[in-house]
Amino acid sequence: MARYNLVVVEKIHEADDTCSLRFELPAEVADDFAYSPGQFVHVRAVVDGAPVERSYSLSSAPQVDPHFQLTIKRVESGALSPFLVEQVQRGDRLEVSEPQGRFFDENAGPARHYLLFAAGSGISPLYSILKWLLGRERGDRVTLVYASRCESGIIFRAELDALAAAHGERLRLVHVLSRPAPGWTGESGRLVADAIERLLGPRDAGGLPEIAYLCGPEAFMASVAEALEQRGLAPRDIRRESFATAEAVSADALDDETTVRILPEGTAEDTPVAAAPQTELTVAIDGEEHSIVPQPGETILAALQRAEIDAPFSCQEGTCLSCMCRVEQGAVRMRRHELIGLTPEDLGEGIALACLSKAEGTRVRVSFEDV
Ligand SMILES: Cc1cc2nc3c(=O)[nH]c(=O)nc-3n(C[C@H](O)[C@H](O)[C@H](O)COP(=O)(O)OP(=O)(O)OC[C@H]3O[C@@H](n4cnc5c(N)ncnc54)[C@H](O)[C@@H]3O)c2cc1C
Ligand code: FES
Repeated sequence: MARYNLVVVEKIHEADDTCSLRFELPAEVADDFAYSPGQFVHVRAVVDGAPVERSYSLSSAPQVDPHFQLTIKRVESGALSPFLVEQVQRGDRLEVSEPQGRFFDENAGPARHYLLFAAGSGISPLYSILKWLLGRERGDRVTLVYASRCESGIIFRAELDALAAAHGERLRLVHVLSRPAPGWTGESGRLVADAIERLLGPRDAGGLPEIAYLCGPEAFMASVAEALEQRGLAPRDIRRESFATAEAVSADALDDETTVRILPEGTAEDTPVAAAPQTELTVAIDGEEHSIVPQPGETILAALQRAEIDAPFSCQEGTCLSCMCRVEQGAVRMRRHELIGLTPEDLGEGIALACLSKAEGTRVRVSFEDV
C-alpha cells in the first residue's frame, strides 16, 4: 500500500468540532490516489511523540470535485482526531495512504433508487457518493436521510441544501435532529422502523430497485438495517461502512459451524483438504511474494501483521472489505458473516476476507493483487 507525505492546502471549518482538510496531489502520485466514491485513506501522524494511524473517508467525489478532501470530527480524548481538527494547519504535511475500500458499487446496470442513511461524521463517504451519483447523467434517484444531534452539528448543511434545491425530484434530503432546539420544524427523534417507513413512504411497485448505504454508529446502522429489511430490502442491498475498529477476530473462533470454506475458482466444492499440523501460507502482495507460517489462533491478516507485511485492512470485522484477497491454492475458512458485502459469486471466485479467515491444509496461497 503506497503512502505519501501530502501537503494540506486548505482547512475548512464545517460544523461543531468538524473540519475538512484538502490535500495537494502532485502529478507523480495522481495515479496512486485515483479513487472511487466512498473510499477511505489511512492517515499517519506523530502526536506527542507517538505514531498514530486512523482511517478517514474521502468526502470529495471523483470526476466531480477538483480537490482531494477528508472530513474529520473531533472525538473527545482521541489520539488523532483532536490533533487533526485543532492543530494541523495549511502547509503542514501528513502521511496518507492510497485510497482503500469497496463500500460503494458504481453499478453500470439499470437505474436505482439509492437510500443513503448517515449519522454525524458518517456523512463523509455518503457525501462523496451523493455528489458522484448526481454528477452522472442517469435516471437514478437518491434519498439522503441525515441524522445529526443539533443544527450546528449538521456537516455540509449549506452544500446539501443547495444540492437538494438544484436537483429537484432526483434528490430528496431529510435532516433529522436528535436534540433539536425550540423552533426546529424539521424531523426529530430516533430513526426507528416506524419513522423510517414514514420518511421513505411505501415502495412503489413499478419503481426503481432500491439499494441502501449506511454510515454512522453501530446502533444507528443496526436499527436502520432492521427497518430496511422489514421494508423488503435484501441484506446484500443494505451496505454499511463502519467507523469502529473492532477487536481483531481470533481464528480460534472460526470453527466448522460458523465458517464457509473458500477454494480457488473452478475447484469442486467437495475437494478434500487434509488437516495439517502446520500450514505454509504464501502471500502475493504489492508485486512481492512472502511465505509465512500462521500460528494457532491467527487469522491470515493477523499472521501478515505479525510478519510486518503491509496488508490492507481497516475494520477487522468484515465490514469494510479492505482486506479482500483471492485464494489461489489450498483452502481458507472464513467466518460466515451474514452482513459482509461479499456475494456468492465472489465466494465462487475464491474471494475471502483476510481478517475473518484462517488458512487450512498444508499449503495455501492467497493474492491481494487485482482483487
Ligand atoms: C473505514 C473508516 C472510515 C472512517 N472515516 C472517518 C471520517 O470520514 N471522519 C471521521 O471523523 N472519522 C472517520 N473514521 C473514524 C476514525 O478512523 C477514528 O476512529 C476517529 O477519528 C477517532 O480516532 P481518535 O484517534 O481521535 O480516537 P481514539 O484514540 O481511537 O479513540 C478515543 C476514544 O473514543 C472512542 N471513539 C473512537 N471513534 C469514535 C467515534 N467515531 N465516535 C465516538 N467515539 C469514538 C474510542 O472507543 C475511544 O474510547 C473512520 C474509520 C474507519 C474504520
Ligand atoms: S479489515 Fe475490514 S473487512 Fe477485513
